[in-house]
Amino acid sequence: MNLHSRKSRPSWSGQLAFILAAAASAIGLGNVWRFPYLAAQYGGGLFLLIYVLMVVTLGFTLMTTEVAIGRRTRLSGMEAFSGVHRGWKPLGWLVTLIPVIIVPYYCVIGGWILKYIFAYLFNRHLALEKTVETVSATGEPVVETVTEIVHVSSPDFFSAFIAHPWQPAVFGSVFILFSMWLIFSGVRKGIERSNKIMMPLLFILAIVISVFALFQPGALAGLKFYLLPNLSEYVKDGSFDFVRLCKTCLGAMGQMFYSLSLAMGIMITYGSYMQKTDSIERSVRRIEILDTLVAFLAGLMIIPIAYALGNGPEVMQKSGPGLLFVALPQIFTKMTLFGLPFGRLLGAIFFILVFFAAATSSVSLLETVVASIRDRTGVSRRTASILTLVYTLLMALPSALGYGHGPLGGVIVHGMTFLDLCDYVTNNVMMPIAAFFTCLFVGWAVGSRFVEEEVEYDGHPFRAKVFYRVMIRWIAPVLMLILFVTFVASGLGYFSI
Ligand code: PHE
Repeated sequence: MNLHSRKSRPSWSGQLAFILAAAASAIGLGNVWRFPYLAAQYGGGLFLLIYVLMVVTLGFTLMTTEVAIGRRTRLSGMEAFSGVHRGWKPLGWLVTLIPVIIVPYYCVIGGWILKYIFAYLFNRHLALEKTVETVSATGEPVVETVTEIVHVSSPDFFSAFIAHPWQPAVFGSVFILFSMWLIFSGVRKGIERSNKIMMPLLFILAIVISVFALFQPGALAGLKFYLLPNLSEYVKDGSFDFVRLCKTCLGAMGQMFYSLSLAMGIMITYGSYMQKTDSIERSVRRIEILDTLVAFLAGLMIIPIAYALGNGPEVMQKSGPGLLFVALPQIFTKMTLFGLPFGRLLGAIFFILVFFAAATSSVSLLETVVASIRDRTGVSRRTASILTLVYTLLMALPSALGYGHGPLGGVIVHGMTFLDLCDYVTNNVMMPIAAFFTCLFVGWAVGSRFVEEEVEYDGHPFRAKVFYRVMIRWIAPVLMLILFVTFVASGLGYFSI
C-alpha cells in the first residue's frame, strides 16, 4: 500500500530547498569521520584521486538516476522499482534494508561525537583501567589493574571511552532519542534552516584547523601523503598488486555511496518531493561538489596532523574508525590565541558543528526506516516511529559496547567488531550490489530514456546525456562487476579493517 498518495505528496519549496535538504542528508559523519580514516587506510593520494573520479562518474550517474526515478514515480525507495516494473520488488527490499542496518551504528558514532562535546564543555577526564604486570617481593609475576586518569587530548582517551562499560551506550541512546525528537517535534525544519549557518561555519572552522595543522612541523609530509597518489605502495615483490587496487576502488566506491546517501533509496525518496520544474542535473552537481569539498577538508584537517604527530601510515591505519577522535584533540591542545588555550573552546565548537551535520543525516536515515515500515504495513506514523526507536536502541547496543570488556564486547567476526562489520557489509557489499542492479534496472530493463526524459523535463538541457547513457548501460555495471568479482575471488576471508 502506498500511503503517500501521489497527488497529496508534499514538495520542496524550490531548487534551493531540495539542494539543502539533500546536502543535509549527504553531509554528515561520512565526510568528517569516515572519509579521512579510509583515505589514511587506503594509502592517501591514490584513494583521494579514485574517490573524486568515482564521484564525478558513478556518483553522478547514480544520483541522477535515483532523483529522476523518485521524481518521475513519486514513490519512495521501497516502492519505486516495483512501481515501474513488477519483477523488481527485491531491489526495493535491498535498498530499504541498507539504512536499517546503518542507522544503529551511525547513531553510536553520533554518540561518540556527543561524548566529545560533553568532554570539551564539562569534563575532560576519563578513568582508564589498565592491567600492568609487576613482580612481587617473592619474585612472582602479578597482574594488577590500575586506574589511570586520561585527558581528552590524550590518544588513550578514545580507547578508554569506547571500552567503557556503559558510556558509549548512553551517549548513543541520547543521540538516537535526540534524532527521533527532531523528527517528531517539527524542530527539524528549524535544524535544517539553522544548517544554512552551521554548515558554512563548519566549513570555515575546518579551513582554520587545516591551516593550523599544516603549520605543524612534519605536517607537509602528511600533506604529500594525502594529496599525491603513490603507486609504489601498490608494488609488491616487483609486481603490481592488482587485488589491492581493486580493494581500494571498492572502498572508495562504498564511501562514495555512503557519503552521497546513494544506493539506499534515500535520494529516490528525496527526488519524489522535488518540483517538476527544477533542474535535476544542476542540483546533483551542486550536491556532489558540496559533499566532496567537506570530505576533502576533513581529510586535510586530520591526515597531515596525524602524520605530523608521529602517526605514520601504519599507526593511522591502526586507529581506523577512531582517527578523527584521536587526531583532532591532539591539535586542539596545541591551538593557542594570544597565549590563551583556545583549543578547548574550538574543540567544543567543532564537535557541536559536526553534531549538527550528523543529526540531519541520522534524521534522514531514521525517517527512511519509518517510511518503509509505513509503506509496508500501513501502520500509523506514531507506531512506525516507536518500532523504529525500539529497534534502533536495541541494535545500537552491540555496536556501542562491542569495544568493551562486557558481555557484548570483544565479539570479533572476520577480524571486525560488530560496528565495523555492519559498516563493511553495507558499504562494500550491499551498496555495490544495490547500485549494480539499479544500473541494470535503468540501463536494460526500463531503458535510460526513463531517466533522460525526467532530467529534460520542462526544457532543461541534459548536458551529460551521452555520457550518462554509456555509464548506466555499460561502464558502471561492468566496473562494479569487475571490482566485486575480484573482491570475492581474492578470498571472502580477507578484510582489511
Ligand atoms: N551521507 C551521510 C554521511 O555522509 C550518511 C548517510 C548515509 C545519511 C545514508 C543518510 C543515508 O554521513
